Amino acid sequence: MKVIVTENYQEMSQKAAEIIIGIVKNNPNAILGLATGSSPIGTYQNMIKDHKENGTSYKSVKTVNLDEYVGLTADHDQSYAYFMRTNLFDSIDIDLANTNLPCGSAPDAKAECDRYNALLATMQQDVQVLGLGSNGHIGFNEPGTPLDSVTHLVDLTENTIKDNSRLFASIDEVPRQALSMGIKNIMQAKSIVMVVSGKNKAQAVKGMVQGEITTELPASVLQLHPFVTVICDKDAASLL
Ligand code: GLP
Repeated sequence: MKVIVTENYQEMSQKAAEIIIGIVKNNPNAILGLATGSSPIGTYQNMIKDHKENGTSYKSVKTVNLDEYVGLTADHDQSYAYFMRTNLFDSIDIDLANTNLPCGSAPDAKAECDRYNALLATMQQDVQVLGLGSNGHIGFNEPGTPLDSVTHLVDLTENTIKDNSRLFASIDEVPRQALSMGIKNIMQAKSIVMVVSGKNKAQAVKGMVQGEITTELPASVLQLHPFVTVICDKDAASLL
């Protein structure tokens, strides 16, 4: 696990974007595993800037996202589908037909997870972007999620509901469930880039990098992957 500590969020975002842009330039048909949350927003802004200034093209790029809230349609402004369009897809030349997320409003969650797993079996991510939950979750793989998990229906923990409520009008509006890639789907990526910022993530970063590998801190499993780059700002790295 390579750990890069940056001065601030901006530098973190720039470094992460450089890695992703490098992969796309090297392989215009790259498959990008993408994440939501406030951590990767700056990374996506840097990718957009580079696309506009340098013309890096996403025309043949395909994407798979980590997760989606259950019960939200793709046009709901808190859905991750909406997040991806407004924070990245609408500002680059990607074909929306090449972008994939689990469908949170699918009537049969189990069938939707099966569909997504079948899709992921045909789409090995050249790079998987990750954020980090303050309890060490990746995607929506909460503490206790087995290492061999694939896309599944998740009951969100109180901790995650509280963390994510800042983006909703009130905590009551935060969905209680999500569909998330499992740990196994994440670990299949050829490489992984994690972006982490802020003091509230410092404990989780320490456990992930220096702690024992345990399902109680899902991100610690990344120690088993051969090509992981963790890019964190000084605050997130403050306990290392
Ligand atoms: C959510 C997402 C994760 C994300 C995490 C941290 O739970 N499912 O993929 O990493 O939030 O979000 P943030 O980057 O906003 O702190």
